[in-house]
Amino acid sequence: MGVEITEPDISPAEYQDMRRFVFEYLAASVEKEDDGGRMRWYPWHSAEYRHNHILNVAALAEEIAEAEGADVDVTKTAAIFHDVAKLETAQDRHAEAGARIAREYLQSQGEYPQSFIDQVCRAVENHSYQGPVTDLPLETQCLIEADLLDKVGANGTALMLLRMGYESRVHMDADEMVNRVLERGIEAANRVESETARSISHQRLKRVKWFREWLEDEIAGMGE
Ligand SMILES: [Fe+2]
Ligand SMILES: [Fe+2]
Repeated sequence: MGVEITEPDISPAEYQDMRRFVFEYLAASVEKEDDGGRMRWYPWHSAEYRHNHILNVAALAEEIAEAEGADVDVTKTAAIFHDVAKLETAQDRHAEAGARIAREYLQSQGEYPQSFIDQVCRAVENHSYQGPVTDLPLETQCLIEADLLDKVGANGTALMLLRMGYESRVHMDADEMVNRVLERGIEAANRVESETARSISHQRLKRVKWFREWLEDEIAGMGE
């Protein structure tokens, strides 16, 4: 008996097409808004930011899924689609709307098995779930954990500082803002359950703590 080789169901070219579709969908959502749309001036209300967040989440979700023994293709595909509706739909409905868009795409492009489509859409639909992540299938759990982790760490800190600029805050507020990143990070870290996500969250929280210490070290009167 030979060794069974399991080919990935989704080719790199197919992932590329999905990513392009999602980016174009996000860009079109922003385009459609009247007079610049709500919060258009915020850096994260842009197709570019959302697309970048999606790529971060997809990379984290893949890492977690691989280590935790979840179906990597399901997890990664769900990650790519998870926020596709974010810029055209209210926050409390974007997960459900995203699942609808993912289903339409997957049913009309390529030959994806129905069970694969169902699993992907279930993960997208439930990614805003606020209860314990262990209530959900492992692939959905990996997606939620990855989504949480993207808010934690150096990247989360950089975004918060960027936001300060938009809000015309001075650098003396940085300590308070970095503290907020840390608090949110601790909340996120408390929600993740898998070993892999926990270890990523510890590493990322450590970076935020270092950054806060460095600020306090360099800026007189801070952290007193
Ligand atoms: Fe989301
Ligand atoms: Fe997200």
